[in-house]
Amino acid sequence: MRLSALAAAYGTPAFILDEADVRYRCRSYLAALPGIEAAYAGEAFLCRAMAQWIAAEGLSLAVCSAGELAVAQSVNFPAERIILHGHAKTPADLRAALRYGVDRIVVDSTAEIIRLAALTPRLQRVLIQVTPGLNAHGDRGVEEQDFGFSLRSGTAADAVRRVLSHPELTLTGLRCHLAAQPAEASAYEAAARELLGLMAAVREHTGVTLTELNLGGGRVVPYAAGDDDVGLAGFADRVRRLITSECAQLRLPVPHLVIEPGRAIVNRAVITLYRVLTVRRGAAGRTIVALDGGMSDYPGHELYWLGHSVRAVRPTHAPAEPVTVVGRYREAGDVLAGDVTLPADVRPGDLVAVSSTGAYNHSMASDHNLVGRPPVIAVSNGGSRTLIRKETTSDLLTRDVGL
Ligand SMILES: Cc1ncc(COP(=O)(O)O)c(C=O)c1O
Repeated sequence: MRLSALAAAYGTPAFILDEADVRYRCRSYLAALPGIEAAYAGEAFLCRAMAQWIAAEGLSLAVCSAGELAVAQSVNFPAERIILHGHAKTPADLRAALRYGVDRIVVDSTAEIIRLAALTPRLQRVLIQVTPGLNAHGDRGVEEQDFGFSLRSGTAADAVRRVLSHPELTLTGLRCHLAAQPAEASAYEAAARELLGLMAAVREHTGVTLTELNLGGGRVVPYAAGDDDVGLAGFADRVRRLITSECAQLRLPVPHLVIEPGRAIVNRAVITLYRVLTVRRGAAGRTIVALDGGMSDYPGHELYWLGHSVRAVRPTHAPAEPVTVVGRYREAGDVLAGDVTLPADVRPGDLVAVSSTGAYNHSMASDHNLVGRPPVIAVSNGGSRTLIRKETTSDLLTRDVGL
């Protein structure tokens, strides 16, 4: 589809979401990981259409708030395929999950175990969030996360005992989430080894066999051409082999394995389309290109700056020139890309496309400067449609109810 036509129809900035790409990633996961449950991490990006595609493609859904759950509920996402997680869930989150009957709730603190046991009207399946104390390479000794129960300090084992002491809760298994973008499958192998060790200890000390191992999300995916891509099939094979051999050694039945890809499903499906507002020479002679969006629609680049591709949409024979691409926001830090090239004849009115923006951008977008958040436009089968409309000034004023 012509990006210029989409920009003319929907305005800029706009997130352009390729439905076929999302569905393709879902199918790739299911095909490469038979017998493993893949739960899409809705925090990466969620809207009703997305939830519907995930449901239709047969993935489960991991939600972390009553809001994400409400989106799932609005498309009748099967409750038996929903997992609620989040390192500090509110009582409202828990109540919403219990009301909808979500299949599994991951508990992250002692207070949450007590709260959940008090609130649940029926037997609730839970998993315990464990911090294995590993960095993104799977090396020991670094507690990179500040949530969940620590394996090293023994609070994880204590949490197991606490959950088992509540007759309202059924302890299904353990879950961890590695620091974003672990570089190698070995990080997941190391995490699995640690969690299986705890499962063996639980069985030895309590006689209870845990049946589920959830390794969270975060699998590395390429953002720009040339980035590493840990192949999905190879990843799955290695983790599965490790789990099988480790379980044989520990005399544990092989648990049901769950992973929660977010970015791996949606990131590559989206480009953000901007229009150039100004082109000027900076103090050091470098060209500075300002776009009509920026940090409020592209917050993910602060967290996960990985050199996204920035391209001019207009065909030109002009040579490429190094430029700094900045946003429109009144912050010194509103730099989308400090080190990219654009055609030397780039001018106001040109369209610029930034690729791989599907995860943690729309979902983390803000109303900074009261610009209004961009729309999300789905493209599929040669057509396009609005999934989330542009946030207008009257939307902003509607919330502003007091004088
Ligand atoms: C617990 C948990 N699961 C899954 C994810 C998804 O991670 P990713 O989008 O990197 O796959 C996250 C992201 O932070 C998370 O915290």
